[in-house]
Amino acid sequence: MNFAIVGCGFIAKKHALAISKIDGATLVAVCDRVPELMEPYLIDYGALPYTNLEELLRDETIDVINICTPSGTHASIAELAASYGKHIIVEKPIAMTMEETERIIVAAEENDVKLAVVHPNRFRPVVMKLQEMLDQQLLGKISHALCIVNWNRGQEYYDQAPWRGTKEHDGGVLMNQAIHNLDLLLSFLGTPVEVFSMEATRLRDIESEDVSTGLIRFESGVLATVQASTTVYPKNYEESITIFGEKGTVKIGGMHALHFETLDIQGLDETTTREYINEVKANPWGTPGHEQVIQDMIHSVLEERQPAVTGQDGKNALELVLAFYESAQLNKPISFTREEEIACQPSKAYQKI
Ligand SMILES: NC(=O)c1ccc[n+]([C@@H]2O[C@H](COP(=O)([O-])OP(=O)(O)OC[C@H]3O[C@@H](n4cnc5c(N)ncnc54)[C@H](O)[C@@H]3O)[C@@H](O)[C@H]2O)c1
Repeated sequence: MNFAIVGCGFIAKKHALAISKIDGATLVAVCDRVPELMEPYLIDYGALPYTNLEELLRDETIDVINICTPSGTHASIAELAASYGKHIIVEKPIAMTMEETERIIVAAEENDVKLAVVHPNRFRPVVMKLQEMLDQQLLGKISHALCIVNWNRGQEYYDQAPWRGTKEHDGGVLMNQAIHNLDLLLSFLGTPVEVFSMEATRLRDIESEDVSTGLIRFESGVLATVQASTTVYPKNYEESITIFGEKGTVKIGGMHALHFETLDIQGLDETTTREYINEVKANPWGTPGHEQVIQDMIHSVLEERQPAVTGQDGKNALELVLAFYESAQLNKPISFTREEEIACQPSKAYQKI
């Protein structure tokens, strides 16, 4: 299948490399507003450069568009790509608002194209193992969870491009960094019904939050605490998720959530526990997430199935981030009901408590 990348900045390099690693995938074109940024893709991959997106989209040999532009531009690019019948891989967050997200999902459905959102952490070996344990209910009834993203993004990170840290195009630590972990919480723990959060902009000169702390109540009754920041001195400190169940405590963590830091499950003997820990330790990143996303897109087209991380998944993660923002802004808990069965209807009915 032929791929084209729109937006040739930081993350585009990972997409290009990932495409080059997959049998049957070829990067044939790239698009950016800045012509110089496209030169390496012509040299390294033979990808044709376009400054005009519609010209690129008119190329009928292109099957998939990888959207790697600032988050606030995802919706308009995705809609246009879908209208040309292209399958879509869109970087996280799927978009900045629920309205934009609905437009993307509707455009993909109406044009019968696949829509995948890039949440590569889903494919980490430790994450897949924990998901399997939760699916098998090895931890019994879950009582609560703790999710921590204490990282460092210095002022120079935000100053790289004018869109970074803005409310319209990027958001803060929740929308940009911790959205991956909120996505994992949703995958691990199910549907949220209530959120209460506080946020602050403490150390970075940006419009959005650089610190956020909040609580989620899930439909199951599970409570989760979320603590996220980009202000930690001097570098990334911790990314972790801990799940506390009646029959087990599991923490995946480290500077990046790549390892089992605690794995204590009733009935799981010491040898098996060690094996699980060592298996992950031997290859903590596994196959890079972006490669898995590309491979999964190819399979979802060939097998006529949904991608592993769907537009609806992207929407659910965004909805949670927006609930955190709304709660912090109003200084009130936000409850919400999700109409999952009507994927293309505006799903959010926020109720101020
Ligand atoms: N999945 C991940 O782990 C991950 C990591 C980093 C970034 N991202 C996401 O990827 C996206 C891009 O982030 P980045 O760090 O690569 O940003 P970046 O600023 O480095 O690159 C964005 C590029 O898009 C180009 N661009 C802007 N508007 C355009 C348009 N309308 N048409 C064509 N090109 C356009 C810019 O010129 C720039 O080269 C964001 O949504 C970000 O949240 C995801």
